[in-house]
Amino acid sequence: MVQQLKKHGLADPPQNSWRRAVIEKPFGHDLESAQELNRIVHEVFPRDEVFRIDHYLGKETVQNILALRFANTMFEPIWNRSYVDHVQITMAEDIGIGGRAGYYDGIGSARDVIQNHLLQLMALTAIEEPASFHPKALVAEKLKVLSAVKLPEDLGKHTVRGQYAAGWQGGEEVVGYLDEDGINPTSKTDTYAAIKLEINNRRWAGVPFYLRTGKRLGRRVTEIAVVFQRAPYLPFDSYATEELGQNALVIRVQPDEGVTVRFGSKVPGTSFEVRDVTMDFAYGESFTESSPEAYERLILDVLLGDANLFPRHQEVELSWEILDPIEKYWDTHGKPAQYPAGGWGPVEADEMLARDGRSWRRP
Ligand code: BG6
Repeated sequence: MVQQLKKHGLADPPQNSWRRAVIEKPFGHDLESAQELNRIVHEVFPRDEVFRIDHYLGKETVQNILALRFANTMFEPIWNRSYVDHVQITMAEDIGIGGRAGYYDGIGSARDVIQNHLLQLMALTAIEEPASFHPKALVAEKLKVLSAVKLPEDLGKHTVRGQYAAGWQGGEEVVGYLDEDGINPTSKTDTYAAIKLEINNRRWAGVPFYLRTGKRLGRRVTEIAVVFQRAPYLPFDSYATEELGQNALVIRVQPDEGVTVRFGSKVPGTSFEVRDVTMDFAYGESFTESSPEAYERLILDVLLGDANLFPRHQEVELSWEILDPIEKYWDTHGKPAQYPAGGWGPVEADEMLARDGRSWRRP
């Protein structure tokens, strides 16, 4: 399409005017196809006139990651390997593949949303403070994080993919993926994926980032949970802290937009029992302004020529570099684990975290 626009003279702007290319994901299906697409697009449009859409970046709560981290003083000092035990990024959906069999089969959940939305969430959670909010400064920081990502050596132990089987969702019986209209009944496409990554830099070395996504899970929820280390010593009787978990800061991306802080508190009474409590910030309660839809914001930014919320070509390529070895491994090793629709994914994903002595949050 881009080449045809050029051929028919539609890509060159008239004087004092501009022409921009807005490209919706998927941006390729692996590194090679993404590079090829970037080459073709850049032959026709100048780099600054190309806007690649990742609609998660248009969400208020995603932009708020930067405000939370860089407009405050209380979070950043503990936002590092000295205090953070691990980070869990979850994008769960209750829907199945709907009418999108043609696109989805053969692509799967990791290419559909980890390569773009979840790696962008991870990058924003992990970046250093950008020198300014100029697009180039923000991209420079995201590129540093994406290029520092390290995959686990044993992909069999630290990645899991699944496929939904029949089950119940919202009181209705639903079919399994292989019985959906238009799906090849022997398909090995993943509708669930969980992966463990590390970021090799001074701030994050040794802190695992667990990313998971799936269709037909218990409910629709996207969140980033920064889980802190346990206190080095607890000066209480052991029974008193039996129900004390780890402190956590949870950025609730959707649908119940806000931030939750979880910490221990004394249970009222004569004994000294400490239990987890939460403190909540909810957009709906704090602001009267409503959030614009992600696409509303992004399309406005395209018209204004503001590239801050659009991934650049290097980010897209680096994200494929992270995912490609995992997809290759999955292609040559077995098939996806089945999980019942309406649940929280395959048991293998729970085992993956249990091996690290951790467990997934039940959002
Ligand atoms: C899209 C994926 O990018 O994001 C879909 O292709 C997914 O599979 C959708 O359902 C989810 O978007 P949102 O904004 O509803 O979380």
